[in-house]
Amino acid sequence: MKNFISVKDVTDINALVAKALAYKANPFADKNAGTGKRIGLLFLNPSLRTRLSTQVAASNLGLETVVFNVDKEGWAMEFEEGAIMSGNTVEHVKDAAPILGNYFDMLCIRAFPTLKNKADDYSEEVMNAFIKYAGVPIVSLESATLHPLQSLTDILTITEHAKSKRPKIVLTWAPHIKPLPQCVPNSIAQWVTAWGEADFVITHPEDYELDEQFTKGATITLNQDEALKDADFVYVKNWSTVKDYGRIYTNDPSWMLTMNKLKLTNNAKVMHCLPVRRNVELSDEVLDSSNSIVTQQASNRVWAAQAVLSEILKNG
Ligand code: CP
Repeated sequence: MKNFISVKDVTDINALVAKALAYKANPFADKNAGTGKRIGLLFLNPSLRTRLSTQVAASNLGLETVVFNVDKEGWAMEFEEGAIMSGNTVEHVKDAAPILGNYFDMLCIRAFPTLKNKADDYSEEVMNAFIKYAGVPIVSLESATLHPLQSLTDILTITEHAKSKRPKIVLTWAPHIKPLPQCVPNSIAQWVTAWGEADFVITHPEDYELDEQFTKGATITLNQDEALKDADFVYVKNWSTVKDYGRIYTNDPSWMLTMNKLKLTNNAKVMHCLPVRRNVELSDEVLDSSNSIVTQQASNRVWAAQAVLSEILKNG
């Protein structure tokens, strides 16, 4: 593995999951794999789980980690090729990235979408600029369209909790007060359909279709009750509209998952990437019930990150 930006960088999902689970069983199995190497974690946006789980994972492999909150501490960065930088941006990525590539053996980057212009966000301008100019492997800590470390964690968590060989996974839209990116739903759709070892259903209100490039192979329905029937896993997440990019059309609270709705499922395990707005996206009664595996899911972020960092180290 050279970079880790999407499921397309992975040759064998089950092998990577097995590697992550092996680290969960024995966190220090490769404690010297990263000795003498240093990774840079660049955050253009906030984080709790991604930042800390990646630091713990790196430490387990003997890697030195430096975290830089670009959004708060760095110069405002420009990504547009040929930009006339007479506005707010101070430093072009083509100047900064090669320097960072000389300081670090690997760069891990979080860069959310602007949600203003779909073409710009979906071109993955930031990740691609770092890949082009840094000269070292790049790991996405969530990009404009995808969150691959989250999705690897999600498949790992599903593998641990599945009671059948081919579980039914339902991704359901949930209400939210702010327009959120499509990264997590795009990414789980991309990974589960590539994995091919589950029946995968996506349910959302009218006009909330995700981009087809990520959902090919999924069953899509506007009827949440129908989708939830016999589900083994319910993945709850809000996203803003794709068609009318970055907008909110509805905040309908009837889409929030409740214990009553869970009765339609096969006593499903409930997942969410976190952070979650309680009693807006997901009810207290569900989050605090034994059906919820959100804490186990978030805890597994360490092992997914460790497997990915280890694979990149292995390939030099
Ligand atoms: N799920 C997730 O990426 O959490 P953070 O935004 O806290 O990193």
